[in-house]
Amino acid sequence: MLLPLPTDPPRLTTFPRADQQGALAHCGVVELPRIEDRRGNLTFVEAERHVPFDIRRVYYLYDVPGGAERGGHGHHRLRQLIIAMSGSFDVVLDDGSNRVRYHLNRSYTGLYVCPMIWRELDNFSSGSVCLVLASEPYDEADYLRDFDEFRAAVRPQPGT
Ligand code: TYD
Repeated sequence: MLLPLPTDPPRLTTFPRADQQGALAHCGVVELPRIEDRRGNLTFVEAERHVPFDIRRVYYLYDVPGGAERGGHGHHRLRQLIIAMSGSFDVVLDDGSNRVRYHLNRSYTGLYVCPMIWRELDNFSSGSVCLVLASEPYDEADYLRDFDEFRAAVRPQPGT
């Protein structure tokens, strides 16, 4: 789905707590430290300091063919920081009521995604690398892979 890029993507000034979930307000872009140097720049990420969780897993997407889409799921507990290490891509976040599209294209900014948020990744540029710092090891039981199921879980309707 094509959504306009926000001209001013929501930025986090403080990290949400682990129990703050299921709302786009608890997601946003954070700026990571950057050591600029003529020999090349350097960015670092420390657990519990630049990400609000202990980093228990790192994974990355690469060699993504043009037009491919990744993601398309939510997580019960997982908290993530998504970084465009190289190139660019878009991340669409949906809390069951609203959607926002982020364009990530800097290796010194990360998108924090709280639990119970639907995410889709697309618009990968050629050669892009998507790095994800994650709060939990891989667990298929943590996934919500059906959007209607996700919406019902995050926004339960009265009487259901
Ligand atoms: P998935 O999370 O669905 O990919 P994406 O959301 O990026 O499109 O994972 C794709 C496959 O890789 C799936 O079979 C599970 C496996 N996988 C692992 O085994 N460990 C991991 O840490 C991740 C992220 C995925």
